[in-house]
Amino acid sequence: MPTPREARVVTVVPGGPVLVEGPVEVRLDDGTVVRSDRFVVAVCACRRSKRYPLCDTSHRKRR
Ligand code: FES
Repeated sequence: MPTPREARVVTVVPGGPVLVEGPVEVRLDDGTVVRSDRFVVAVCACRRSKRYPLCDTSHRKRR
């Protein structure tokens, strides 16, 4: 009997990143794939990160 797949936990941080259980591969619209093997990966949701698609905490800075 096949084992049911476990749901991956994703946490949305208000005003910040989306935390995803790693490892993670993020595919961008240009076909680039960014991989992170961290236990929890912070994916940028604000588009201000200099390391996009990974969060670099730039979302904390006021504009
Ligand atoms: S969410 Fe942190 S830099 Fe974009």
